[in-house]
Amino acid sequence: MAEFTLPLNSRITQGKTYPAPKGTKAIRRFEIYRWDPDSGENPRIDIYELDKEHCGTMVLDAIIKIKNEIDSALTFRRSCREGVCGSCAMNVNGKNTLACTKAIDSYPDTIRIYPLPHAQVVKDLVPDLTHFFAQYASIKPWIETQTPPPADSERLQSHEDRAKLDGLYDCVLCACCSTSCPSYWWNSERYLGPAVLLQAYRWIADSRDENTGERLDALEDPFKLYRCHTIMNCTDTCPKGLNPAKAIAEIKKLLVQRQEG
Ligand code: SF4
Ligand code: SF4
Ligand code: FES
Repeated sequence: MAEFTLPLNSRITQGKTYPAPKGTKAIRRFEIYRWDPDSGENPRIDIYELDKEHCGTMVLDAIIKIKNEIDSALTFRRSCREGVCGSCAMNVNGKNTLACTKAIDSYPDTIRIYPLPHAQVVKDLVPDLTHFFAQYASIKPWIETQTPPPADSERLQSHEDRAKLDGLYDCVLCACCSTSCPSYWWNSERYLGPAVLLQAYRWIADSRDENTGERLDALEDPFKLYRCHTIMNCTDTCPKGLNPAKAIAEIKKLLVQRQEG
């Protein structure tokens, strides 16, 4: 009979518990995924109890407090703590989100924190986004033009054309949507995923860009685009309230119009 060895990270063990200081009245409990793939050990869940009265209001505040005061080895990304850099993306109580935009009080007493799902783990809560950003680069996220710019001004845009970019330019590339998309889980080598497709549409929709045809050519592919089956996890999870599924549908619509036209 064939025997298989399960991958190292297939079993998560119970880790350490760091109890709240004696006399703490309002305890918040954080169960956090810990794994250093280079250590040779299995992943574990460590439990940290914090005194709510001495902690900031957001989930990211709690994680920073744990790192500063309890366990300096806890590893995560963050920068702006304002929901604009996209780096603190993680899975909190089962949903991908930006930890700096989520109030601790919006969760039950125990908060479970994991890295973004179906991403390689660099360490603890840090996913490897190398492939994600290579896919982003592949859609040429910049204006492409053939005509020279006006001699006396920048390339201008009407208010109406500018408004077409609302809900697109605001994407912070956090990868919450792509890592919640089942199609991306199974086909991320070839499917671009909701975040990168939303970004692709952002440049297609820009009235100043003059390479729409080439951009659509590059997306007309059974894997890059058509692995989206409108499951809508992406739109449901986006912490910025954006709608990647709609952007994907717009690209598909343009491709159909092009064939008909
Ligand atoms: S669409 Fe939303 S969830 Fe996806 S990368 Fe952009 S901000 Fe993040
Ligand atoms: S709508 Fe498309 S991109 Fe969004 S989660 Fe579903 S399959 Fe993925
Ligand atoms: S720290 Fe920048 S989005 Fe959370």
